[in-house]
Amino acid sequence: MKTGVLAVLICGLIVGEQVAFANECRPCHADHFTNVVTHFPAIQGQCYRCHQATPAHLSGEDVKAVTTDRRSEACYACHDKEIQTQDRLISNIKIRIEQMPFVHGGVQAGCQDCHLPHGSRFNRLLTASYPLSDHAVFSLETYGICFKCHDSAMVQPFVEPGLTGFRNGSLNLHWLHVTNGNLSTSAKMGRSCGVCHDPHAASQPHNLRSSFGPFPMPLVYRAQPRGGECTRACHVPKSYTR
Ligand code: HEC
Ligand code: HEC
Ligand code: HEC
Ligand code: HEC
Ligand code: HEC
Ligand code: HEC
Repeated sequence: MKTGVLAVLICGLIVGEQVAFANECRPCHADHFTNVVTHFPAIQGQCYRCHQATPAHLSGEDVKAVTTDRRSEACYACHDKEIQTQDRLISNIKIRIEQMPFVHGGVQAGCQDCHLPHGSRFNRLLTASYPLSDHAVFSLETYGICFKCHDSAMVQPFVEPGLTGFRNGSLNLHWLHVTNGNLSTSAKMGRSCGVCHDPHAASQPHNLRSSFGPFPMPLVYRAQPRGGECTRACHVPKSYTR
């Protein structure tokens, strides 16, 4: 009896899945339905959300006879609200970008430079690696997404003039934070870029977030004539001079 019910359930699931996946794109683009990290509209076969294919394309006559919507608006069709998934709440990206005074330069060109629309082997459909935790052992690969566009020389221990503004004299504060360079604890305590910066947009200059940590603590930045000053949580302000 139990096995029977199970068989019916499994059969139902498979049939349901086939129906959802049965669309005109699958025979030729099977790879777009299978990825380690999947994306709802692609896995559901909602290809038409971002593509318009002509009969000539579907018959295989003209591979170019199909359009692709690369605008952020195509993403905002769904990401203009919070999305509850099985294990977390995805934030409203449209609001996060449009209501912030400082939009990250990397976002101006659209979402595709950092996200793959169909699926990815990296977290959050990213085009390269990025840690989601506040702390990680530093390596250029770990933060691959940022160094696709930014010069990795900004994190070397000794700064030559012009490599980073986040330094105190010749001490590179980027290196110090991301590698936990003074090893106050261990290399595992290297701070992720995301502790201080938001990859989409932020309320303070230099894409600096206004809070950080699992129980958000305030982060207040003040530009100085030749450096900056940061007050985090209840600690006394710390400043740096270039
Ligand atoms: C008869 C086979 C076939 C079908 C059916 C088909 N495609 Fe294609 N498509 C191709 C081939 C071959 C290419 C060229 C190689 C590639 O980019 O994968 C292509 C390329 C594309 C491209 C890139 C076009 C470009 O200018 O580079 C997009 C986007 C695309 N297909 C979307 C779709 C969507 C969406 C569907 C379903 C509505 C679909 N295709 C159905 C065969 C097909
Ligand atoms: C959320 C929007 C979105 C959805 C949904 C979507 N695509 Fe795409 N697709 C894109 C974008 C944007 C590109 C261009 C990516 C680039 O050039 O970096 C693209 C590129 C492609 C390409 C050409 C490049 C490649 O990756 O092979 C094919 C083929 C394709 N899509 C097929 C599909 C199929 C089949 C589906 C449904 C399973 C689908 N897409 C669903 C946005 C989407
Ligand atoms: C048809 C609605 C829809 C569209 C259009 C859409 N998304 Fe999504 N997106 C979702 C849903 C639903 C989820 C959460 C569940 C999932 O992905 O399986 C999601 C999740 C995501 C995630 C988080 C993935 C993860 O692993 O946590 C990213 C990043 C993302 N989308 C980016 C984009 C980008 C970039 C575009 C435009 C190219 C886009 N989305 C267009 C519905 C959409
Ligand atoms: C410069 C790279 C970059 C660009 C451009 C970018 N993102 Fe992201 N996105 C990230 C990174 C890194 C994360 C993971 C860390 C985080 O959530 O702060 C992320 C996370 C997300 C998530 C998951 C958010 C959550 O609450 O878990 C969504 C959805 C998303 N991005 C959508 C978009 C959309 C839509 C666009 C275009 C308007 C876009 N992103 C442009 C880098 C980028
Ligand atoms: C697609 C390219 C691209 C990617 C990927 C990218 N950025 Fe950017 N970023 C830019 C551009 C363009 C600017 C604006 C010009 C500039 O200041 O260099 C910028 C500016 C910044 C700034 C502000 C500079 C200032 O002083 O105002 C910060 C901080 C920053 N990015 C951090 C990051 C982090 C962290 C990541 C990884 C999550 C990342 N970026 C990934 C292109 C990118
Ligand atoms: C402890 C906080 C903190 C962390 C962690 C951090 N940054 Fe920054 N970052 C800053 C501050 C503060 C500035 C502004 C420096 C100035 O101009 O006064 C800055 C500036 C930048 C700039 C502008 C150019 C420059 O170097 O001055 C970029 C790009 C950038 N950060 C990228 C990153 C990337 C990528 C990571 C991770 C590998 C990262 N940051 C980690 C605080 C941080």
